[in-house]
This record gives sequence, C-alpha cells and structure tokens, in this order.
Amino acid sequence: MHRTKSITICAIALILGAMALPAGGQYTPAKHAPQATTAAARDWWKNAVIYEIYPRSFQDSNGDGIGDLNGITQRMDYLKELGVDAIWLTPVYPSPQADFGYDISDYKNIDPQYGTLADFDRLVAEAGKRHIRIVMDMVMNHTSDQHKWFIESRSSRTNPYRDWYMWRDGKGETATSKGAPPNNWQSEFGHSAWQWDEKTRQYYYHKFYLQQADLNWNNPKVHQAFKDIIGFWLQRGVGGLRFDAITTLFEDPSDTDENVLLDKSGNPILDAFGEPTVDGLKTEFLPGVHAVMQEMRATMDTFNAASFPGTRVVIGETYVANIAALAEEYGSAQRPEFHLPMDTQLGMLDTLNVAQFRARLLDAETGLNGNTPLFVFDNHDRPRLDMRYGDGVHNSDIQRVISTVLFASRGAALFYYGDEIGMKTTPPTRKEDVKDPVGVTGWPKEKGRDGERTPMQWNASANAGFTPAGVKPWLPVPPTSATVNVQAEEADPNSLLAWYKALIHLKKTNPAFADGTDIMLDPENTKVLSWMRQRDGAPQVVVAVNFTADPQTVNLSAREAGLKAAHLKTLLKSPGGADPASTEAIELAPFGVYIGEVQ
Ligand code: GLC
Ligand code: CA
Repeated sequence: MHRTKSITICAIALILGAMALPAGGQYTPAKHAPQATTAAARDWWKNAVIYEIYPRSFQDSNGDGIGDLNGITQRMDYLKELGVDAIWLTPVYPSPQADFGYDISDYKNIDPQYGTLADFDRLVAEAGKRHIRIVMDMVMNHTSDQHKWFIESRSSRTNPYRDWYMWRDGKGETATSKGAPPNNWQSEFGHSAWQWDEKTRQYYYHKFYLQQADLNWNNPKVHQAFKDIIGFWLQRGVGGLRFDAITTLFEDPSDTDENVLLDKSGNPILDAFGEPTVDGLKTEFLPGVHAVMQEMRATMDTFNAASFPGTRVVIGETYVANIAALAEEYGSAQRPEFHLPMDTQLGMLDTLNVAQFRARLLDAETGLNGNTPLFVFDNHDRPRLDMRYGDGVHNSDIQRVISTVLFASRGAALFYYGDEIGMKTTPPTRKEDVKDPVGVTGWPKEKGRDGERTPMQWNASANAGFTPAGVKPWLPVPPTSATVNVQAEEADPNSLLAWYKALIHLKKTNPAFADGTDIMLDPENTKVLSWMRQRDGAPQVVVAVNFTADPQTVNLSAREAGLKAAHLKTLLKSPGGADPASTEAIELAPFGVYIGEVQ
C-alpha cells in the first residue's frame, strides 16, 4: 500500500542516516540529495499514537536495576504490536541525574547508565524497521551545573561563557555580605530561584533545581549552540523533538518581584514548601519564546528538505492557561512553531465531568485554527490515571473511558508507559525512600514524582521482568505487578491491554478515525459523552462513553446532530456490553463505552 511503502523508504533512510554519522562525531549538514516527501511521510504525525517512555524504568538489560536503551530495543516488538507510531524518550543524555536526566551535562552523547551512541543508533534502526520513530527530549531552558558551559561560566565574571547564564548581584550586597536574592522569584521545585555562588560572588537563576542553571536566551550564541545540537540528533535519524519547559525560556528584564498571591484575609498563600506563592508573570510565558520556536522549527524543517522525507515533529510541553494561548503555540503558516503543542486543557482536568470534557473537546475542534491537537492525560510529572480519575472500584473501566476520549477524538494521542496495563501510582511511604529531590524538599505535603515512575510491569515474577530477581531496582516494583502486568493481560481478551490495542488499531485503520472531524452528539447530557467522527466518503462512526457508575441509555438520533435513526455495526465495546439495534437506544454499563459504525 501507498502508506506502508513510503514509511518503508523512510525507515531505510533512517538507518542510512544513522550510519552516515561516525560514532560520537560532530554534526555536519547532510549531503543527501533532496528527495520528494510523500503525503504519508509528511503527515504521519497528524493521527499519530505517541508513547512516552521513562527510560530509567522501562527495561533493564544489564542487571544494574536501571532501565536502558538496549532494554527498550528488546521490547520493540511489544511496542509494534501495541501500535505506536513514535516513542518519546525522556532525556538519556549524560547527566548527574539530579532531575533524572533533565539536568544535562552533554547534549551530544548518551549517559553510560543508559548505553552508548551505538546503542542509540541501533534503537533508532530497530524502531525504524517497525515504522516507529524516536522522539528525543530537548531541554533548552537550563543545563546541568556540571555542563562545561556552566563550569566555564561560573569560573570568572569575564569568562566568555559568563553571559550564557543569568548572573545577578544580590540585593544590598557588600564586600563581606552576599545580600538578599535579587528578587522573590521562586523555583518550581521550592524556595528561591536564585543560588549564591561564592567564587564570583553573584547569584545565578534556576527555575528548577539549583543543579539546573537557566540559560540566557538573549545571547545569540545559545541559539546557535542548540541549532547545532538539534542538527546532531536529526542527522542521527530521530523523528522529532519534545521541547521541555518551553514556556519558561525567558524572564522579564526588569528583574522586579512577582506578585504574591493572597488569601481572603490578605495573607500570603503558602506553597508546599512553606514559601509565599507568586504569580509567575515575570518568569513564564514571556513572548520571546515564539521567535525561538520559529527559529528551531525552521531549523528542523530545513533539515527535512535536505535529507530524507518525513516530517520531524516538533512537540511542546505547553502547560498554558487556555485554548487561545494554546492556539498561539502553533505559530502561523508563514512562521510555524510547534506541530503538536501538548493540549493539557483536556487531559489534566483531573475530574470526570462530561460537560467539561465536551467543552474542552469542542475547544480543540474550533479554537485551534484547524491545527491538529495533541491530547495527553498522563506523564512522568503527574500521578497516574488511577489517582487522578479512578474511583477505586471501576478503575479499569474508567481507564477505558479516558483512553476512548484520547484515541477516538481527532488528532494525535500521547500516552505514558504502563497506562495500557493500568499501572497504579505507587508513591513512597517513607521520606528516606524518596528519590525525586522535590519529594525530599517538600515531604510530606509534596512526595515528589517517584510514584508515577516505578518500573514497567512485564510479568508476575519478582521485579516484574524489569530487572532480574535479586537485583535492587532503582525504584521499587509495586506489589500490584503480581496481577497487573503485560503477560497476564496478553492472555486475557478482556484486559485493559487488549482494549488499548483494539482502540489504537481502530484509530489507525478506520477511515473516519484517521482524520474525521469530531461532532458532539446529545450535547446536554451530563452523564454520557457522545460524539461522531465524520469524514467525506467514509461511514460515520459514533462513540458513546458513560461517565457514571450507573447504567445509562442514550439516543443519538437527535435531530440537531443530523443523524437519523440508523442501524449500527459494533466496532468496539466494553467487555460484556450490548450491541444496540440502532442509534436510538445505546445501552451502556457503568463507565461503559460503545463505538459503532452508522449503516
Ligand atoms: C519538565 C519535565 C520535568 C522536569 C522539568 C525540568 O517539566 O517534564 O520532569 O523536571 O521540566 O526540566
Ligand atoms: Ca541497566
């Protein structure tokens, strides 16, 4: 078929691209002749299923208790069968691991804990053979304090790298006193965002951990350095980049205080770390980031044209306030920015509310200027779905509800390793077990992010097949792995895993699911969310999802939807669900889902 063929060409090119680069070598612009880009290779991301892997926790291949690249390569057939188009890897670059990889000390290599550049090339090649693209994390807001740029920068006030970071005098500083931090800006991970550095007697800014010094994006050399890094990885055959913490790239040049948020009695609202909460207006969402993303996108687009066909997708970590702000992240046709800025409006609602889900889906359909939404419900920074949406009784059914909204709506879909088997959030119970520093600083109010980063549960053995029995995994394997694991669910046709596979298969093969618009049905219903996927020349598909713990019946033949009473052919339904005779009476079990084609 047309689509398969073009992807095969692309996969071969991926392998060639990887081979063209000497191990550890410098990036040199590609010399391949420009090739025609087919529509399938160009548009692959528009209906893409993207799987986030936290490499430390996916599969350990060498028995040190830490997941690695070879482990991911070993599991490639599993990912192929799951039906994913791309894998987003959280950072695997060399790092002191203060923020488990988000503190990068070398952007052009692989951390020895995770493997080598040769392992990475093999991962790209093996993924490519299965038509799976590898998306890397690109952290541009900050580097590790162990990066050579920062080591230079902090060595003297006159070092050429001094201006690559944000250095400021303390307030009221004297020869003997460091004074106070320059202003009240707060780190995302607790306490002042300014760290005193005795050697050169100034403060540096860090939005995240103090081991993550913020780069100065007003320095053109920083721009050039990242364009070079991006070229290095594109040349190696990566299918795209996910830009981390992108909304915090710039800070207000006035360096003045942010506003402190006050409660009703006029007292400061304290955060989990006991500090006054500030409004973030001087350190987030500054407009300069748009020009940077236009520049990075142009770099990636140019690279496309010059090497092999296939869009290198530009994904953004875009926690923004509303749909209008999200729409801006796409840029314009003349100056595009992200292909897929994450839509966290829907997935991070954290409440199963039909009206709110409907409103957010409608927003994505009408408020993004026709751009493709990227829905996401779960990641390595938030408690897993069970904790945010579960009721403790119907958790698997509720995950069927969530995954249906994710995969049966128009656009690209991003999900997190372990969602497909229903892995549970398993936070540490004792402070001494906490690995994520934010949990140490914030204990007990803030327990950190370990709970959503536990090892993947492959089977019921000790350590769940993640690492050999007897090895101490870097985070404990949850006891739920005895029943919640890939092997058990592969054997059960009614498992959550079977559901995910079936849904993804539908998304990738049903013509209305490929790019049909979403039309809300039965729009006043507060218990059942229903919509139709419609595309010229393809049968319409209806989706009905029960958001309640009681059985519900819906009639989707309402006149306003333009859908006449019609027979339905079932495409997918929750285990034990009924096949309705027509669109007029669809019966749904508690948290039940029905998907059918209108005949
Ligand atoms: C993003 C990442 C998070 C990390 C932070 C700092 O929010 O998803 O894990 O700690 O950026 O890089
Ligand atoms: Ca390992």
